[in-house]
Amino acid sequence: MKADVLLGLQWGDEGKGKIVDVLTPQYDIIARFQGGPNAGHTIEFDNKKFILHTIPSGIFNPGTINVIGNGVIIDPFIFGKELENLKANNINAENNLLISKKAHLILPTHRLLDATYEAAKGKAKIGSTLKGIGPAYTDKTARNGLRIGNIIRVDFLKKFNELKEKHLRIIDSYGFDYHNYLLDGLTFKDYEEQWFAAIEKIKSIQKINSEYFINQSLNNNKSVLAEGAQGTLLDLDFGTYPFVTSSNTIAAGVCAGLGIPPGKVGEIYGIFKAYCTRVGSGPFPTEQENKEGQKLRDEGNEYGSTTGRPRRCGWLDLTALKYSIMLNGVTLLFMTKADVLNSFEKIKAGIKYKFGGKFIDHIPFEASYEKLEPVYHELDGWQSDINNVTNPDNMPQQLTDYIKYIEKEVNVPVAMVSVGADRSQIIKL
Ligand code: GDP
Ligand code: IMO
Ligand code: MG
Repeated sequence: MKADVLLGLQWGDEGKGKIVDVLTPQYDIIARFQGGPNAGHTIEFDNKKFILHTIPSGIFNPGTINVIGNGVIIDPFIFGKELENLKANNINAENNLLISKKAHLILPTHRLLDATYEAAKGKAKIGSTLKGIGPAYTDKTARNGLRIGNIIRVDFLKKFNELKEKHLRIIDSYGFDYHNYLLDGLTFKDYEEQWFAAIEKIKSIQKINSEYFINQSLNNNKSVLAEGAQGTLLDLDFGTYPFVTSSNTIAAGVCAGLGIPPGKVGEIYGIFKAYCTRVGSGPFPTEQENKEGQKLRDEGNEYGSTTGRPRRCGWLDLTALKYSIMLNGVTLLFMTKADVLNSFEKIKAGIKYKFGGKFIDHIPFEASYEKLEPVYHELDGWQSDINNVTNPDNMPQQLTDYIKYIEKEVNVPVAMVSVGADRSQIIKL
């Protein structure tokens, strides 16, 4: 078997968690391959809502194994809270959850470093989720990191303290007052205490060499879905650098983040919202800082799953979508949050940019620094409630037209349209 991949094509929060949950019954294994608790993946069913940060979104199907791959970085404190929340809802994640021994740890001081660097950047800040992502991946690439497999080794505490002291020296050199900085409402000392308590919990979860596990599973005809976090436009190399995350969010990240050879990657499912959002700083050409943007935010309840920050909102950007499709080799598209456009009289889609006095249909290097002016194609809205539509024959003509227009522009079929947050609110085309 080959491993399929599901990932975001915009700036994250495309609804990946919901779609993974919808697809999970078709898969034996769901595996996260990158990112960490900067992710917030929402799943809703039976009037319950869960937000997962580290644990794969297949966890609600007892028959599916969930793997946290080597490319993921884990904050034991946050991970422990996720386990607790699931347990409080009678879901024992331990039964079908495996963690790669090679996944790196986010230390409490990685979070302090994140806050230190962001504060030092002032107005130029990335708008990070402040979960320690950049500093933890930095230590990984600088070959200083601690991994999940280290926690049972006799020298773990010594290594932890060495790294912590090094971090604190950097933090002190910036003059950052970490004693008065709260981490998820806790002082550094209390956070560290709970971080270590959570390490004990991780000890009882099965830890594996996930590259062997995944490859053996594929050889034994088990189906695997790799779940992405963040989105293509936040990719470390191809996103709107420096306003990006610190991992490769694109399909190529699956090979490095799970140990799957390129030839064993199958379908690539690309998720995009019917419009566009971004949380944090950085360029966003089709952003609407006006009534339309506010309406998208209100109708779409566009507030961050991880930080609660209001998301910036705007129209679909087809140039960016084509770029993402190219980078990932997307074979099937899934459009989410179509229902958010229910009451819009007109819907717009950016088709090219005006830049330096010319029209362009690609994203230039300068896009990270200078403003691209989008040119829009306008379509009629459906102006009706589609939240309960599940049969494609009952879709309003204007919605069909919007989808057909997107398919024609990007040359990849749309396989599903999501029309609400609940698991059941989906139209299979
Ligand atoms: P992810 O990070 O890609 O998993 O996405 P998030 O969970 O951060 O953000 C998506 C938000 O939209 C969540 O609150 C979801 O419950 C919600 N959502 C997902 N699909 C739909 C949809 O089709 N319609 C509406 N209205 N909400 C949706
Ligand atoms: P999911 O998986 C949306 C954004 C942050 C910030 C930038 C860098 O839920 O789609 P970081 O914490 O990585 O240092 O932040 O990336 N960001 C996300 N935006 N969804 C996410 O994840 C994100 N993860 C990071 O807002 O702009
Ligand atoms: Mg999210």
